[in-house]
Amino acid sequence: MVLVNIEKIDELELLEYLKNTPLANKVEIKEYTHKVCTNATIFVARENENIIGVNIVYFNDRILKRGYITHIRVNETHRKLGIGGLLLSKAMDYAREHNFTSIALEVRKNNEIAMHLYTRNGFTIYQETENSYYMKKSII
Ligand SMILES: CC(C)(COP(=O)(O)OP(=O)(O)OC[C@H]1O[C@@H](n2cnc3c(N)ncnc32)[C@H](O)[C@@H]1OP(=O)(O)O)[C@@H](O)C(=O)NCCC(=O)NCCS
Repeated sequence: MVLVNIEKIDELELLEYLKNTPLANKVEIKEYTHKVCTNATIFVARENENIIGVNIVYFNDRILKRGYITHIRVNETHRKLGIGGLLLSKAMDYAREHNFTSIALEVRKNNEIAMHLYTRNGFTIYQETENSYYMKKSII
């Protein structure tokens, strides 16, 4: 059974997970993991205790009241099962409960699958650069 929850996840467990993902080729993964465990809200999808996906969101902008997704990923073995959508909707629920008014994210223009996930879940583009779209969804 797949469960998605907000977790005060153990930093080492998250590091072990993220270390084996492409994110580890893009950022200094130990530093990143420490930063998000300290400052972000982490939604974890598990199947039989094993992590099968994460959605890491900053809810620190108390002026704009905007959450920001820094990283969302579902294991390749578990894609197209709705887990990405579930991870997004858990973050939207959390935002609503904590009186945030929107959630934003950046997506590379060539990441069509992620774009599809976000559009399907009500995110719209509000800004773009050469390689990225910035998308957000208002919370009603
Ligand atoms: C983007 C990602 C999180 C989606 O996770 P997921 O659990 O597969 O998402 P869902 O099952 O909720 O599917 C969302 C939609 O995308 C579609 N989709 C997912 N994988 C797809 C694929 N390989 N090809 C075509 N469509 C795909 C699903 O069919 C679904 O569409 P639908 O609702 O119209 O049927 C996942 O593909 C992933 O981890 N990608 C790598 C990391 C990444 O790119 N993160 C985003 C960075 S901005």
